[in-house]
Amino acid sequence: MRGTVFLAICVFLFDTTSVVFGKNTQQPLKGATTNREYRICNGCVPRELVHAPGIGIDLSSSYGTAAIRYHNGTVIDVGRVEGSTEYKDLMNRLSGPYKRYGPPFKTPLDRIEYDLDRAKRLARKFKGIPSTEDVATLSSMLSQLRWLFSRETHMDVYGVVLSMRQMANLLPEDLTEALDWSAMYLIRSYKHQYGPLHNANSAWAGMGMGICEHWQDIEKCEEEEERFTPKQSLALTYTYDELAVEIVVMLNAHTSFRIVQERFTDLSYGTWDNDRSNMTYWDTIGRKVVETSKKSAWPIEELILMGEYAEEKRFLDSIWKALGDTLDIQKLWEPLQRPGFNAEFVAARGAGEMAKRWQGETWNCVEGDWCEGNRDYAL
Ligand SMILES: *[C@@H]1O[C@H](CO)[C@@H](O)[C@H](O)[C@H]1NC(C)=O
Ligand SMILES: *[C@@H]1O[C@H](CO)[C@@H](O)[C@H](O)[C@H]1NC(C)=O
Repeated sequence: MRGTVFLAICVFLFDTTSVVFGKNTQQPLKGATTNREYRICNGCVPRELVHAPGIGIDLSSSYGTAAIRYHNGTVIDVGRVEGSTEYKDLMNRLSGPYKRYGPPFKTPLDRIEYDLDRAKRLARKFKGIPSTEDVATLSSMLSQLRWLFSRETHMDVYGVVLSMRQMANLLPEDLTEALDWSAMYLIRSYKHQYGPLHNANSAWAGMGMGICEHWQDIEKCEEEEERFTPKQSLALTYTYDELAVEIVVMLNAHTSFRIVQERFTDLSYGTWDNDRSNMTYWDTIGRKVVETSKKSAWPIEELILMGEYAEEKRFLDSIWKALGDTLDIQKLWEPLQRPGFNAEFVAARGAGEMAKRWQGETWNCVEGDWCEGNRDYAL
């Protein structure tokens, strides 16, 4: 019973967002057949775009990773760039809690601070340098990743799908500027029009979940996606700098709802590394994960593991021990058993997969027969 109500709520949420974000037809409820009318596109997606490799970037708390999804289906990890001290500080500082930037102002001081910041930004722009130090830091990370791609593909890379965690205080204008400085832009889709992809979503795609098989035909793809059932998932990101615990309802690889998000910098792998005599460290991790997952009333069905240390045996053991009576424990090993699974690169790979699809798919319309020569439907 609880499960059904949960499902109904999710489908309801999904419908609402479809409308809010301007999809022109609502998704039918599960079980109903699709009654959506697709218009014929005016043009065709150019053959170069259909065949181009998909470029995926994931920015984690302390490093960035890059992956390419080729047209023949092969996905490769291109490399990793270590974050500078400034980068790590930025990722930590801008992750929240949310702080309002700009009007309306709560106090006159807020207004002065804001005006001062705008003036500083403008002055820097006049000098021809990035508006803020943060923009410079981000663009330096992105440029280094871009260089890895160019080295790998011997091509210039422009369009990317960027995966990152929710960064409450990263201004969209700053992210866009950082991408501009590194000569890249975000690939958009009618299914995901603005901003980066949440890292739980890209990891989901990287695990081969929530993505349709017939992506080159959006009509078939959407029919497939309608049959996906929402999964309440526990997403764990474990790096040298932090442990992030999230409960996310995954609808598909581009839509999810976050129920709970907690970050523990005192439970990072680094904390352990600096004091390996700490007898309570691993048990504390287990306890915090359980406490966080209990904040949602519904059972957890899937586990998403991300980050360079997420495959650490002691980490998995403590989660296993702690969740033993609340989760079907076999689930824990499922992502790890998928061929080629790698927690460090899974989000970048998923971002590459989405990049491949988004740049090669149509925008809310179906191609006329005359476009067929541009595609081969094999992969
Ligand atoms: C797929 O294409 C890439 C790039 O052209 C190539 O490196 C790789 O070997 C190919 N994989 C297969 C299975 O053909
Ligand atoms: C061990 O680690 C936990 C979690 O980081 C921390 O709360 C605790 O204070 C540490 N204990 C000691 C003795 O340092």
